[in-house]
Amino acid sequence: MGDIAEETGGDGLDRELADLLEVERFPPPEEFREHALLKDAEVYERAAADPQAWWVEQAERLHWFSPWEQVLDDSNPPFYKWFTGGTLNVSYNCLDRHVEDGRGERVAFHWRGEDGEERDITYAELLADVQRFANALKDQGVGKGDVVGIYLPMIPEVVIAMLACARIGAPHNVVFGGFSAEAVRERMEFSEAKALITVDGAARKGQTAPVKQRVDEVMGDLDTLERIVVVRSKGLDCPMRQGRDVFYDEIVAAADPDCPAEPLDAEHPLYILYTSGSTAKPKGILHTTGGYLTGVAATHRYVFDLKPESDVYWCAADVGWVTGHSYIVYGPLCNGATSVMWEGAPDYPEKDIWWEIVERYGVTIFYCAPTAIRACIKWGAKWPEKHDLSSLRLLGSVGEPINPKAWLWYHKVIGGERCPIVDTWWQTETGAIMITPLPGITETKPGSATRPFPGVFAEVRDESTGEPISEGQGLLVLTRPWPSMLRTLYKEEERFVETYFKRFGPETYLVGDAARVDADGYIWVIGRIDDVVNVSGHRLSTAEVESAIVAHVDVAEAAVIGQHDEDTGQAIVAFVTLQGDLAGDEQTVEGIRETVATRIGKFARPRRIIWADDLPKTRSGKIMRRLLRDIAEGRTLGDVTTLRDPAVMGQLEGKVKEMQAEES
Ligand code: PRX
Repeated sequence: MGDIAEETGGDGLDRELADLLEVERFPPPEEFREHALLKDAEVYERAAADPQAWWVEQAERLHWFSPWEQVLDDSNPPFYKWFTGGTLNVSYNCLDRHVEDGRGERVAFHWRGEDGEERDITYAELLADVQRFANALKDQGVGKGDVVGIYLPMIPEVVIAMLACARIGAPHNVVFGGFSAEAVRERMEFSEAKALITVDGAARKGQTAPVKQRVDEVMGDLDTLERIVVVRSKGLDCPMRQGRDVFYDEIVAAADPDCPAEPLDAEHPLYILYTSGSTAKPKGILHTTGGYLTGVAATHRYVFDLKPESDVYWCAADVGWVTGHSYIVYGPLCNGATSVMWEGAPDYPEKDIWWEIVERYGVTIFYCAPTAIRACIKWGAKWPEKHDLSSLRLLGSVGEPINPKAWLWYHKVIGGERCPIVDTWWQTETGAIMITPLPGITETKPGSATRPFPGVFAEVRDESTGEPISEGQGLLVLTRPWPSMLRTLYKEEERFVETYFKRFGPETYLVGDAARVDADGYIWVIGRIDDVVNVSGHRLSTAEVESAIVAHVDVAEAAVIGQHDEDTGQAIVAFVTLQGDLAGDEQTVEGIRETVATRIGKFARPRRIIWADDLPKTRSGKIMRRLLRDIAEGRTLGDVTTLRDPAVMGQLEGKVKEMQAEES
């Protein structure tokens, strides 16, 4: 207990937080449980006894144009198919059926711009906008099966664009606005996107970033990209290339208002989303229609205990990540929720903007990442305390392990000790939440995502024997297919099998995370086992950052590791060898950071750069990152006998110590 109490410094909450931690377990508050959608643990047994029946029950809540013939086609693992033969349309489920059932006047999004501008968009308005834009896309030559890139900030048009693509069966490929134009280009190239929807400029804490101009600088020679659609959001002048570029408002004005939703096969691709893997090349996660929507709608409803008539739901992520896809766009809209959408950052114009928004719209359910909570702790409780947060009834966390300190602060300062916290574990690959408390049922423990969602089967396996562990640490796996699982890696089928289904065979999905299971069967996700780092909830591969660093002219070689960081979860540390006799200075550091920002995005810039004369390599030339991690974390070094030149380690250790001394 002592070290946790020490950890909880700041805001005079130390004692109280330490007291709370003594409780260790938090049963659902009685008041919450009483009104919860699910309050009986029997649901777990029911789903476990007949998972297919459970998922059918969830799929039946959707609108299908024609019924499925088979629930699960598992004849060719790991290529599973769900609800085969059925047809549906995601945008119809998210919009038309609400409007047809008399819910058209309900607000889908309370949108708030960085400069304070407000727009309430109803389901009926969203449907009208989506139909027009879907027709506009068709007018531009985009058809069923064509990949459409979307590189937009948090403005309503990003939702319209995604739903318009879904309406006509054009898989979208959204790229997070924090990625650089070069990263966008790479993703457009890999997916052979036919069109890209982007914006003149994006708001960034009071500044306007010239997005279209940057896109133009890199996209010029990409032949597969026939159209660039530009949303005029900030009134920036931007270059338009004749024959390729069109303005969103102009093509929408010229489009027909009626665009019936296309009935699509349950396995029709809904989207591709690139995420980082172990190598420099990002992986194109492919999600399809029926299973994905079933998974996101069911989890959104039960994990957040959603009452669409009365709740105001806010997922404070960016649509550019899977969290935004599943829990800003598809899950909430499918369930007819009223959501908040905020254009900006959590600390602009002031550090209380999130809490001002919660108060302004009466947010009842709030979902964010631990890294943001830790930033709030640092800024101090005085910011949330300025606002009335009593509308909140449920809090969620996603993206990385939440440390008990952050959990308790969230519980006490934001949740007023009355809101259950759902710590949701999942991945881009899983499409929907996999391990999570059910807020009306599960007793939570700070830091544990608790148990698999009903119908999901997780195990922790011993790293060496591969046997399931009933208590202890090992590799996290999912042992049965689930409807919202990725179907493949776009255009890389072999890599799909190799990455997820080689270790334990085609029926057991290897997650890529280490986890611990405790005596109560609760799962505690520890972190990645591969060369993927998680910086402020952003997933990056060390190889991707290394390849950006070596693009700098002075650099010969680089090895990147993720180092534990109090604020961002992990921070990027790069060990760099320079060309010839070059010596690194501040200017080189800045140059390298700039190169990474241009190639990937600012969020991927290394926190520290350590100059190395050589890197620890095996005799076959493989860089031993494990040893670099040991040095950076100040641990005793593991086995160095396999190194080509063991002396390298002593030298690097000295440099790291020097640097750490300077920093402190
Ligand atoms: O390591 C796990 C961590 O984030 C990884 C997935 O990252 P991404 O695909 O970008 O999706 C993030 C949002 C779903 C996982 O392999 N992770 C995610 N949620 C949690 C988590 N680690 C611990 N606890 C969580 N709740």
